[in-house]
Amino acid sequence: MWKPPERIKYTTSENQWPSQQQAVDSRLFSKIAIGNTELKQRTWVPAMVPWRSNEEGEVTGNVIAWYRRFAQGKPGAIVIEATGIRDIPSGPLLRISSDRYVDGLRDLVAAVKEASEGQTQLYIQLIDFLSVRRRPDPQKFFDRFLEVTAEHRRALNMNDASEAEIRAVLADLPAEEQERVLTVRELEALRYGYRERVTDMTAPGVADLPVTLPTLFADAAARAKAAGFDGIELHYAHAYTMASFLSATNTRDDGYGGTREHRVRLPLTVFQAVRQAVGPDYPVGCRFLSDEIITQGSDLDDACYFAHEFAEAGMDFLSLSRGGKFDDAKQPKIGGAVYPYTGKSGYECMPSYISDAQGPFERNVEPVAELRRRLRDAGYSVPVVVAGGIYSFDQAERLLQEDQADIIGFARQALADPDWFEKVRRGYGNEVTVCRYSNYCEGLDQKHKQVTCELWDRQQLDEDGLVLASDGKRRLTAPHWTPSG
Ligand SMILES: Cc1cc2nc3c(=O)[nH]c(=O)nc-3n(C[C@H](O)[C@H](O)[C@H](O)COP(=O)(O)O)c2cc1C
Ligand code: SF4
Repeated sequence: MWKPPERIKYTTSENQWPSQQQAVDSRLFSKIAIGNTELKQRTWVPAMVPWRSNEEGEVTGNVIAWYRRFAQGKPGAIVIEATGIRDIPSGPLLRISSDRYVDGLRDLVAAVKEASEGQTQLYIQLIDFLSVRRRPDPQKFFDRFLEVTAEHRRALNMNDASEAEIRAVLADLPAEEQERVLTVRELEALRYGYRERVTDMTAPGVADLPVTLPTLFADAAARAKAAGFDGIELHYAHAYTMASFLSATNTRDDGYGGTREHRVRLPLTVFQAVRQAVGPDYPVGCRFLSDEIITQGSDLDDACYFAHEFAEAGMDFLSLSRGGKFDDAKQPKIGGAVYPYTGKSGYECMPSYISDAQGPFERNVEPVAELRRRLRDAGYSVPVVVAGGIYSFDQAERLLQEDQADIIGFARQALADPDWFEKVRRGYGNEVTVCRYSNYCEGLDQKHKQVTCELWDRQQLDEDGLVLASDGKRRLTAPHWTPSG
């Protein structure tokens, strides 16, 4: 992962934890309405893909165990990981792309409700993504994948040569010559792996995304409602299709790109289709970016405009993330896939303890507070969720008291200690395992390995009936907590 050149190391400080009474009296542990429903506390576990599903994208026993463990901490809400809406093989990514997934998802909802004793609201994040191929072996790229064009012939001055001769010459060109002869996209396909864009209007299925996506999202949302989820989070963030429509890099000329009024059109149409499918009283919100953190990407001003449009359209919550784009991702190894959290934008999404003068904590707070301020000034009261480097009660409570956000997201902190919420609420804050923002978990995610936390995954491995990761070395869920004394 990219790290700021300053390389300043930060530690998560030991906190003053509240007494049980202070917790009860706090804003963090107070209720908040989301649409017509209510969170019992203003805490939120944002979506995190743990790679617990199977090649069919089903709810497995390990998926259930993972979320059951989070639910035992009884946060206000848990958002189930990015879940695919298309009925296509997507590796071990959870799917909601057909009615055959509903029974499994219903079991997941039931497990969370039982483990949280009904205290936790359960949302599911719906995602669409475009095709991303692995970085090819250069020989194979030139032998097979590259389409030989008239431009290549012209640039090589080999108009009459056979395709095989052209391929052989291209494969032998030094890097700087390849840069002259290949297009930017061909070079990207060679060096990073082919990646489809929403602007690829001639690629199959891309031009008509504005026609296909509303139905795909709406059908998935109807399934989520049927499975018993308390609401939907539309994934409009990071490197995926909907975020790419919102992006300032979206230059589509069909009325769905270019100006921000056009870029927000499909995300609004998708929301309207989802609203139609689930009805007016069912909570639907979205996750989007306060800033893309890429050259020529959308910035805070764009995000404020989108927030205004989403609020006006009737979304029930807005959850803000930051960065996490393919555009500045590191070159993968041959055979590996580009991962959107390896560049500067990835750092802003999941900042690690090796940082700059600003440090890894609360980097998303100022922009989100500004966005929320502008919403409130315009008369919208939609709850705003902030996440990024928040691990302590003091941070969370301060952000709420200062009206910087309405709900606090704890992603990696909840992974490090799923009992954070119960421990703090009951006055056992000093028993919290504090995340150190090492990004060991994120490294596992990058390799599509079962995600665990280094602070607990080697503990109590002799526990009865313990399920281990497929490498046989790590436990898959945090050890059980019993309050001391
Ligand atoms: C292992 C892992 C998987 C993640 N998967 C998702 C995801 O599916 N959808 C999403 O919107 N964000 C995802 N994120 C980002 C988190 O939701 C969160 O925005 C980020 O970690 C910053 O918050 P934190 O500092 O509280 O961890 C993931 C993060 C991690 C560490
Ligand atoms: S591995 Fe654990 S300590 Fe490290 S960032 Fe992830 S959750 Fe935090």
